[in-house]
Amino acid sequence: MHAIRFTTYGGPEVLELAELAAPTPGPGQVLIQVAATTFNPVDATIRAGYLRDQFPLELPHVPGIDVSGTVTEVGRGVDQALVGTEVVAFLPMNRPGAAADYAVAPAELVATAPRTVGLADAAALPSAGLTAWQALVEHADVQPGQRVLVNGAGGGVGGFAVALATHLGAQVAATASPRSADAVRSAGAHEVIDYTTTSVAEALAGEVDVVLNLVRNAPEELAALRQRISPGGVLVSTTTLAEPDPGRDVRAVAVFVRSDAAQLAHLTSLLDKGVLRLDIGARYPLADLARAHADGEAGRLRGRTVVAVAG
Ligand SMILES: NC(=O)c1ccc[n+]([C@@H]2O[C@H](COP(=O)([O-])OP(=O)(O)OC[C@H]3O[C@@H](n4cnc5c(N)ncnc54)[C@H](OP(=O)(O)O)[C@@H]3O)[C@@H](O)[C@H]2O)c1
Repeated sequence: MHAIRFTTYGGPEVLELAELAAPTPGPGQVLIQVAATTFNPVDATIRAGYLRDQFPLELPHVPGIDVSGTVTEVGRGVDQALVGTEVVAFLPMNRPGAAADYAVAPAELVATAPRTVGLADAAALPSAGLTAWQALVEHADVQPGQRVLVNGAGGGVGGFAVALATHLGAQVAATASPRSADAVRSAGAHEVIDYTTTSVAEALAGEVDVVLNLVRNAPEELAALRQRISPGGVLVSTTTLAEPDPGRDVRAVAVFVRSDAAQLAHLTSLLDKGVLRLDIGARYPLADLARAHADGEAGRLRGRTVVAVAG
């Protein structure tokens, strides 16, 4: 099968096209004929070797943490009826990924693919959708009528976060540069702050109950945003480590997204109902994965980035 792999950690140039044997599903696993995977900021971090202690990899490594595709084979203990099913999954980050014609996934992590979008584009949902869901529902417990700031709404997680927060009944303020402002508004943001021309903490009129921080910002910038959270509120960050402010009764939570098939199934149903939409900023063929990594690291990508494998 065709695959992209890296044999050493390094820049995008370590990603090379290779001809590999297709994997075999072990007990509890399914084999997926891959329609698409994605590029995420963490893919570049993993490739560069910055996460080698947290996620030790066996090199060579096939990247690609999201997958959409069709189950072609199942391992021992997995329902044979899954064969032929179109699925999506957020794969374990320390295992071989989906930048290949075939990938194996633990059967317990796959969800049926959404019906209303193409199978390749469906790869855009798992890791980013789960991050937004876990941040807003599990960690922030967003309630109707609350005010939520999504900082970094133009990115892959941000678009889902804006739509989910709106769906949960929150008033959503969001930061975006002009290239993403329309997409963020159409995801449901009530207010869009252009972070390129103004200080977000100053532009935010009044207080918020929740700040979801999706930007690698300086600790002092995050502290300034925390000042805008009302007592009892929460700062949830996927990036810069958030410190609480116990004196003002403001909690802080660091997000570490995990795979969860039940949550993913719920997210696919929200996509099929039109609550969530896919904001796909770029599509690359598998052979151009290195270019996707380079474009991502240079800040040229916005929304979700899909890497098409089939065809
Ligand atoms: N801890 C976890 O479990 C976890 C899970 C998922 C993601 N993450 C991290 O969360 C972050 C967001 O992920 P992502 O996939 O959404 O990233 P992404 O798609 O690469 O985000 C890119 C977007 O960031 C926006 N941006 C850049 N600088 C900004 C700033 N100063 N203020 C506001 N927006 C800014 C840009 O928006 P414009 O287009 O508006 O310029 C751009 O579209 C990444 O650092 C990622 O590594 C962590």
